[in-house]
Amino acid sequence: MQLNFLVLIALGLVLLLPESTVARWLGIPTVPFVESASKGSFSLRKLENVIVDTRHYDAVDNEGETLIPPTLSDFASTFGNDLQSILGVNVPVITGDQGAPNSIFVTIGNASRYLDAAGRTTSEGYSIEINSDGIALTGASPLGAWWGTRSLLQQAVLGNLELAYGSAVDAPGWGIRGFMLDVGRHYYPPDFVIEMCSYMSFFKQNIFHLHLSDSSNLNPNISMERKLEFYSAFRLNSPAAAVAGLNIRPNESYYETDFESIQQSCASRGVTIIPEFDAPGHSLVFNQWKPELALSTDFSMLNISYPETIPTMEAVWKTFLPWFHSKTIHLGADEYSSAEVAEYNRYVNTLTDVVYESSAKKTRIWGTFAPSRLLNATNVAANVSIQHWEFFEANPYFDFIKNGYSVVNSDDAFYVVNKWSGSYPQSINLTRVFHGAPDGGPYAPYIFDTSNSTNNPSKGNPYVLGQIPVVWNDFGPNSSSVIEAYWAVRQGLPALADTQWGGDLTQSEFTSIFETLHAAIPAQNLDRIVKSKTNTILSYDFSESTLWWTKTVRDTSGNGYDGTISGNCSVSNSVLQLSSGCAINTPLLSKGRNYTLSFSVNPTSSKPGTLFSGSASSLKAGNGSISNVMFITGGNAFVLNYTLPINAWTDISVVAINNATYLSVTQGESSKLETFEFTTTIGVLSNSFVWGNPMSIEAPISVIGGDSFEGFITKVKLEDSADPSYVTSVAPLVTGILEFT
Ligand SMILES: *[C@@H]1O[C@H](CO)[C@@H](O)[C@H](O)[C@H]1NC(C)=O
Ligand SMILES: *[C@@H]1O[C@H](CO)[C@@H](O)[C@H](O)[C@H]1NC(C)=O
Ligand SMILES: *[C@@H]1O[C@H](CO)[C@@H](O)[C@H](O)[C@H]1NC(C)=O
Ligand SMILES: *[C@@H]1O[C@H](CO)[C@@H](O)[C@H](O)[C@H]1NC(C)=O
Ligand SMILES: *[C@@H]1O[C@H](CO)[C@@H](O)[C@H](O)[C@H]1NC(C)=O
Ligand SMILES: *[C@@H]1O[C@H](CO)[C@@H](O)[C@H](O)[C@H]1NC(C)=O
Ligand SMILES: *[C@@H]1O[C@H](CO)[C@@H](O)[C@H](O)[C@H]1NC(C)=O
Ligand SMILES: *[C@@H]1O[C@H](CO)[C@@H](O)[C@H](O)[C@H]1NC(C)=O
Ligand SMILES: *[C@@H]1O[C@H](CO)[C@@H](O)[C@H](O)[C@H]1NC(C)=O
Ligand SMILES: *[C@@H]1O[C@H](CO)[C@@H](O)[C@H](O)[C@H]1NC(C)=O
Ligand SMILES: *[C@@H]1O[C@H](CO)[C@@H](O)[C@H](O)[C@H]1NC(C)=O
Ligand SMILES: *[C@@H]1O[C@H](CO)[C@@H](O)[C@H](O)[C@H]1NC(C)=O
Repeated sequence: MQLNFLVLIALGLVLLLPESTVARWLGIPTVPFVESASKGSFSLRKLENVIVDTRHYDAVDNEGETLIPPTLSDFASTFGNDLQSILGVNVPVITGDQGAPNSIFVTIGNASRYLDAAGRTTSEGYSIEINSDGIALTGASPLGAWWGTRSLLQQAVLGNLELAYGSAVDAPGWGIRGFMLDVGRHYYPPDFVIEMCSYMSFFKQNIFHLHLSDSSNLNPNISMERKLEFYSAFRLNSPAAAVAGLNIRPNESYYETDFESIQQSCASRGVTIIPEFDAPGHSLVFNQWKPELALSTDFSMLNISYPETIPTMEAVWKTFLPWFHSKTIHLGADEYSSAEVAEYNRYVNTLTDVVYESSAKKTRIWGTFAPSRLLNATNVAANVSIQHWEFFEANPYFDFIKNGYSVVNSDDAFYVVNKWSGSYPQSINLTRVFHGAPDGGPYAPYIFDTSNSTNNPSKGNPYVLGQIPVVWNDFGPNSSSVIEAYWAVRQGLPALADTQWGGDLTQSEFTSIFETLHAAIPAQNLDRIVKSKTNTILSYDFSESTLWWTKTVRDTSGNGYDGTISGNCSVSNSVLQLSSGCAINTPLLSKGRNYTLSFSVNPTSSKPGTLFSGSASSLKAGNGSISNVMFITGGNAFVLNYTLPINAWTDISVVAINNATYLSVTQGESSKLETFEFTTTIGVLSNSFVWGNPMSIEAPISVIGGDSFEGFITKVKLEDSADPSYVTSVAPLVTGILEFT
């Protein structure tokens, strides 16, 4: 009876439905997909090659933001590498005139069917046709085809290499989709920036905006001497005479070759770097360089009326414009003195003209002063695009869009401030991504105001360029580690990628596929995973299996991560003796959260030295004149109130759980266990502090010893997990004021 009923329903459905079933691919973002009437699926296991259309193999997309667009064949070979690295499908990428059985044919087609939210054609659209023969991927441009390859990879990962017959026609609603990172107040190495591009690209995000100069807020009450020393940075480093002395942090900078490689690597995955130098506000770094440029009333701002100010900033931009491969650069221009609006407008308009004349690039600024309707007023030219961030500055819809300005949505609903803030969260709020519309529906780039829809233009408004969430480092370089910027957006950025593209993913769908897709993102390892057969990643017991004659330390974990001895470390009775200049080099670099790095150590001198170092951190027993155990990461020291006893064995475990890192020690007869936490003290306006913020620090596992540490070490073990019971005495955050004279 029940069965018959179901059969009837099924029959009814079959009769009601036309040739095909309308559906969508669940992905990040989602993809409109129509399953074909002829049921079946194509297995990528049968794939024999990727064929790039001979007629278009060297085509490029000139419509996008980049001036160094890869060719169709460049994108196809990167796709070929990804097929291998994430799916294990190893096929050649060749050229040909047409598709063939068991191939993916990649070509370019009529762009007019791909429309953005405003109904304009977009070069980023693509379509996919899957049948028993294989797959045809047609991009509106090579960039469109590239985004199509991301869809194929995602579906292959989720579908275990099987792709149902059918077709997809897809295009992004908005052209600017990405992320901004404050690399001015905190340095991020080039490789990290490149890995973030790979991360975004998998979710079809195309813009990485780098805020390249800034400082924390300056306390106006400190002495000029301290103002001149306060941490600020200008991250590009050129030998040009025009900028001599501007960059005083050579080891925390991008040289021309670094910036070129960042831009090229990112472009190869469809991501354009938008560079920003922030002025005339947030200009401490320029004023430290040339104090005569400062406003007498605020040393963090430029005095635009001073005759040398605009020429100096023109010279800075002219030095670096030839480095940049984007069509748009960012002048910053936020939070300036409201007593100087006319001068501010003159600054923006003059620099806009200079930038255009010398490089044909367009400019963007942060939404700051609403255009004035007074007849005699000057305004920022309407061809300067506006990056909106806060309604208290200006209303993006009424002040800008309705006056003909194009606007990027960086509303601070999606601001993150690393580690601590009086007003912003420390990671992207997922609830807001999926329910941030005024009616509780999902967020989207045209939603500037999450609670008042009157402030939002229509979805199809052509002046809305896209959306960019932001991670700021308001409290400077020592408040966080490099990798914490990634953890702050690890989920939120992909979630926003769906809304930036115009997808319709729900929060529960996102949760159901995110980790599976995450595990497959090519060309990055931001989780800092180390492959391991078991929970034990590496284990050096320095037993007889250590072959001193081949200088090999055997890894007993089963993973074969054997070490090599350099210098004259000696090994006897299952103990390694470290002395100045000797080291064990492992084949590994770093391990991300969670981990337990344990070892036994017996220092024979109080000489400070390094115990372990890796690509992201080093663990030291003392540094300079202090003997405390500390981690150094990103150039900053995080110091424990603990010193290793000399001439005694201590068992140590460095334990990373979620966003915190601990060190626990067991020492002496009593075997008493003591746990310390690596934290940071955040300085606010040079006179108040927030103590006890957790630090996430990757395990340093590339080198044991290597500099001046002297003593014995053994039982070195790295595990891929952490016992949650270490989270014992988490110190509460404490805020306090420290008066100074
Ligand atoms: C592209 O397609 C549109 C409509 O779909 C059509 O009007 C136009 O002629 C086509 N262009 C080319 C070059 O085929
Ligand atoms: C600077 O000093 C003034 C006057 O004493 C005081 O009102 C103000 O709060 C101080 N600002 C900061 C950031 O400490
Ligand atoms: C800005 O510079 C002009 C020209 O040198 C000078 O007259 C003015 O006092 C300066 N303003 C401030 C606030 O420093
Ligand atoms: C512009 O005109 C208004 C009156 O409409 C006047 O109050 C203001 O001072 C003028 N501003 C300038 C810069 O001339
Ligand atoms: C931008 O607009 C201003 C003012 O209308 C104009 O002077 C300038 O030439 C324009 N620049 C470009 C690149 O169109
Ligand atoms: C660290 O994680 C804890 C919970 O595990 C959370 O309460 C806290 O907000 C996190 N801190 C930061 C800075 O992310
Ligand atoms: C996240 O966003 C939602 C919706 O805007 C809000 O209700 C909630 O308070 C936010 N959570 C945090 C931790 O800020
Ligand atoms: C919503 O925005 C409109 C336009 O800015 C404003 O007039 C109105 O007061 C706002 N409503 C609320 C409840 O804030
Ligand atoms: C750069 O060098 C300075 C001065 O030696 C040092 O304090 C800082 O930690 C270094 N930064 C990095 C990221 O290594
Ligand atoms: C360091 O630890 C000792 C006890 O081992 C304690 O007396 C001292 O107050 C601690 N210092 C700080 C700055 O916490
Ligand atoms: C780390 O361990 C905590 C506590 O056991 C767990 O909740 C969390 O999911 C783990 N994180 C990772 C990245 O494995
Ligand atoms: C971080 O730097 C601030 C100055 O910006 C300083 O006050 C604070 O003590 C430093 N914190 C650590 C842990 O070094």
